[in-house]
Amino acid sequence: MYLDTRGVMLRQFSFKSSLLPFNYLRSSAKIHLPIGATMSTFKNQNESTQQQTQKPVQVAKRLEKFKTTIFTQMSTLAIKHGAINLGQGFPNFDGPDFVKEAAIQAIKDGKNQYARGHGVPELNSAIAARFHKDTGLVVDPEKEVTVTSGCTEAIAATMLGLINPGDEVIVFAPFYDSYEATLSMAGAKVKGITLRPPDFSVPLEELKAAVTNKTRAILMNTPHNPTGKMFTREELETIASLCIENDLLVLSDEVYDKLAFEMDHISIASLPGMFERTVTLNSLGKTFSLTGWKIGWAIAPPHLTWGIRQAHSYLTFATSTPAQWAAVAALKAPDSYFKELKRDYNTKKEILVKGLKEVGFKVFPSSGTYFVVVDHTPFGLENDVAFCEYLIEEVGVVAIPTSVFYLNPEEGKNLVRFTFCKDEDTLRGAVERMKQKLKRKV
Ligand SMILES: Cc1ncc(COP(=O)(O)O)c(C=O)c1O
Repeated sequence: MYLDTRGVMLRQFSFKSSLLPFNYLRSSAKIHLPIGATMSTFKNQNESTQQQTQKPVQVAKRLEKFKTTIFTQMSTLAIKHGAINLGQGFPNFDGPDFVKEAAIQAIKDGKNQYARGHGVPELNSAIAARFHKDTGLVVDPEKEVTVTSGCTEAIAATMLGLINPGDEVIVFAPFYDSYEATLSMAGAKVKGITLRPPDFSVPLEELKAAVTNKTRAILMNTPHNPTGKMFTREELETIASLCIENDLLVLSDEVYDKLAFEMDHISIASLPGMFERTVTLNSLGKTFSLTGWKIGWAIAPPHLTWGIRQAHSYLTFATSTPAQWAAVAALKAPDSYFKELKRDYNTKKEILVKGLKEVGFKVFPSSGTYFVVVDHTPFGLENDVAFCEYLIEEVGVVAIPTSVFYLNPEEGKNLVRFTFCKDEDTLRGAVERMKQKLKRKV
């Protein structure tokens, strides 16, 4: 039976086995251990049988509803079908030389042992200085900045360090997939507020109504993956007053802050009364096209930083030392670096958006990030997963189905996400393939 633990999709959608979550491919569930046997003795005693029979998947309850991430699935299929990957958000070009040189130098200089748990002091200072430049806020690098292994770890450390089992956390759907999983690890109850096309604006009344006496935090992301929406000042002010009135935290994921095209990025921490209740999460990956380095950070007042650092201490303890030293060089980049980055991405965005419109998609405006969301329904496929499958196999292009970013996957069934963090030839090539092979049905 194709029952999605999040909802209904698998039954309604004709997933092929290649797109089925790992859990569903191995459907027999129960494991019978001999009494007193540990998992490792069980393994050893059965080594020979292990080679012949596949064992059922074992996963803790808190994670059993989650699947192989869609990004892994799509990137694997892209390789299998030789498709152009406009799915997963990693650039197909390299990060800047001055940052790579700094990493090489750090390795040569012997900066290769464990770093201080909450960050190499110079990096904490560079993060605080950049935050000051960007937001006007002065933060203490020693007490208010924690360096983590990517923003993904900053998110996990924040949830595990600050959220108690049973706490309610409000998220805006569609949302980056690690939010729900890490909230689940923390035992939190996730409440979704859906941002709807065409502008994906925040339904402020719905948001207000969602707050209860169990609500601990609002988790937001601006510029927003996958929609490219940027939270407006008015939306941020409403969220801020709601948080102040109800004594809530805000966890604000701002990894795309330097990819704000249509308006200025606003950090909610900079609004009056908000710093003391906000955790600002960020990383190096998107801004410096070095997504594999996994250098991230959390900025929060000392009373919140303590919990984040406690979780971080026992998750990873410290982050790659030479990469932290290189991050110091990165964050000191001149303004011209950030201007050029935006200019380059603007050109890429124009190529993709124009191309997608010519192909026949309804393209929703994207103000920030390197993503754009489209309505695929003119091509007559029953849902986003079926469309993405068709696109990979018959057209040779990868996009990401957005239903995976919703608590109720039905809400994303008409939408798919393309990324433009690829070189211009790749973007043109993908558009050309779609123009040739994708035909509108309606
Ligand atoms: C909204 C959002 N937050 C966080 C991350 C992860 O950042 P990092 O690679 O630094 O862990 C991503 C990566 O795609 C993202 O889109």
